[in-house]
Parts: sequence; C-alpha cells; structure tokens
Amino acid sequence: MTPSSPPLAVVTGGNAGIGLALAHRLAALGHRLVLVARDAGRLETAAREIAGRTDVAVDTRACDLSDAAQTRALAAEIAARAPDVLVNNAGFGSYGAFATLPAEAAAGMIATNVTALTVLTAAALPAMRARGAGRILNVASTAAFAPLPLAAVYGASKAYVLSFSLALAEELAGTGVTVTALCPGPTATGFADRAGMARARLFADAPAASAEAVAARGIAAMMAGKGLEVTGLSNRLLVFATRFAPRALAARISHRVMRERLP
Ligand SMILES: NC(=O)c1ccc[n+]([C@@H]2O[C@H](COP(=O)([O-])OP(=O)(O)OC[C@H]3O[C@@H](n4cnc5c(N)ncnc54)[C@H](OP(=O)(O)O)[C@@H]3O)[C@@H](O)[C@H]2O)c1
Repeated sequence: MTPSSPPLAVVTGGNAGIGLALAHRLAALGHRLVLVARDAGRLETAAREIAGRTDVAVDTRACDLSDAAQTRALAAEIAARAPDVLVNNAGFGSYGAFATLPAEAAAGMIATNVTALTVLTAAALPAMRARGAGRILNVASTAAFAPLPLAAVYGASKAYVLSFSLALAEELAGTGVTVTALCPGPTATGFADRAGMARARLFADAPAASAEAVAARGIAAMMAGKGLEVTGLSNRLLVFATRFAPRALAARISHRVMRERLP
C-alpha cells in the first residue's frame, strides 16, 4: 500500500493578513498549500516563511481575482488539482460614500469578493462531492449582518458571502462536504489601511483582533464542519443584537460607527 499524500489546501489571499495566518494553521495541520494572490514577491516570501516552519510543500500562484479570465484559468487548475480544502479569503474594501466610488472600483470589489469566490467554489465542488469529503472556508465579515454605509458595496459583498455559504452548507448537508462562513470583526492586518478605513470609528475606537486569533477560530470551525463562525465575544454580541434591530435602524447605527473619528 502506498502512503496517501498529505491533503491539499488552496488559500486565496494567502500572502498576507488573515489568509497568511490561515495558511500557517493549515500547514501546521499537515496540509500542502497553494497560496494565491496578486503580489508574486509577497507570495514567495509567505511560501518561504511557511516552508521554513513546517515540512509541507507550498506552491504559489499569482492571480488577480478581479480579472474574469485569470479567475477562470485558476478555477480550471483547481478543478484539476481537486483540493481537499478551499479557503476563499482574498478580498478588499473601500471607504467613502458610494457616490464617490469609481464604478471600476466597485466592479473590481464585487469580482474579487463575490464572483471569484463563487467561481472557485464551483470549481472545487465536483471532486469534493465525488470523494464525499471536502472543506470550504469562505471569509465573510461581521459587516455581512447589517448594511454598511460608507462601505456599502463591501458590506453587500460580505452579505452575499454569508448568505451563499449558509445556503450551500445546507444543500451539501450529509455529503461529507462542508462550507463554513468565517465572520471576523476589525482585525489587525493591512486591510483597513488599504481600504482607507483606518480613520473610521470602527477601526479607530476599538482594539482589533489578531489575524492569528481569527485564523485559529476559523480553522477550528472549518474542521468541525460548522456553518458559521463569528470571532470574538463583542462581535458575537453585536451580531446577536442586529437580529432585533429593524434594518433601517441597523443601517443608521452602522453609519455612526463608520463615520470618521474626529481628532
Ligand atoms: N482585517 C479586517 O478587519 C477584516 C474584517 C472582516 C473581514 N475581513 C476579510 O478578511 C479577508 C482577508 O483580509 P485581510 O484583513 O487579511 O486583508 P489584507 O491583509 O489586505 O489581505 C488581503 C489579501 O487578499 C489578496 N487580494 C486582494 N485583492 C486581490 C485580488 N484582486 N486578487 C487576488 N488576491 C487579492 C491580497 O493579496 P495581493 O494584494 O497580493 O493580491 C491579500 O493576500 C478579506 O476577505 C476581508 O474582507 C477582514
């Protein structure tokens, strides 16, 4: 009998922040990795860092997930490589009134946060279903639970990720394939600076969680086959509270939290 090879995990956005922390966790659990992101230099650095700490094989794949053709090519490779784990983590936000958001920026965000996640999930599923085993982890956000003025498209993109993941998890119940939506709150990564969101009260007023803590919860939830993981007690309380607020009120409260912190 030949020993079976270690399980394979594909992690999008695996060269930084939460994705890199998720990749470290998966490597520590013995997974071979394919890290996907745009910046090839940071991908190589991340791969070296992970391979230096474990003896798993780490491949990198530069891909711009806002580009439909590049995403399709990656999807074909994922279908062929039949990973045991797919982590759809790549994503970005943008801060400011929707009226000031260039149309291409909104389209790029939806392509990355929504379309690519959907296309890659569709690519990974057939082999997982045929095998009767597979784990998909989709990184949403606490922003998924209420409208998010000043990051309207970002919030709506994460509401999609949450709704899609929970629906798919239900469709796949009993197949051996699980889907987990991971919903972090503010987390100390490059995200807020990249989005121009660091000056929003959401980030400026409260301490952010570490990417490592978020990743630990996310991987544990995924391995347990949980449908939903909201990380952090204050985030879980916040999500619970949104159940009782009319949506318009939730939007008004979110607006306040998203306003700029004045000096
Ligand atoms: N940090 C937070 O407060 C927070 C809270 C809730 C949810 N989240 C979610 O967590 C996920 C990870 O974010 P993070 O906080 O770790 O942010 P981050 O440090 O900015 O990392 C984002 C990752 O996504 C990749 N990425 C972005 N656009 C891409 C594209 N077009 N094609 C391919 N890869 C792309 C980036 O790599 P390249 O730039 O090299 O492409 C990077 O690896 C995101 O989905 C985010 O929405 C973050």
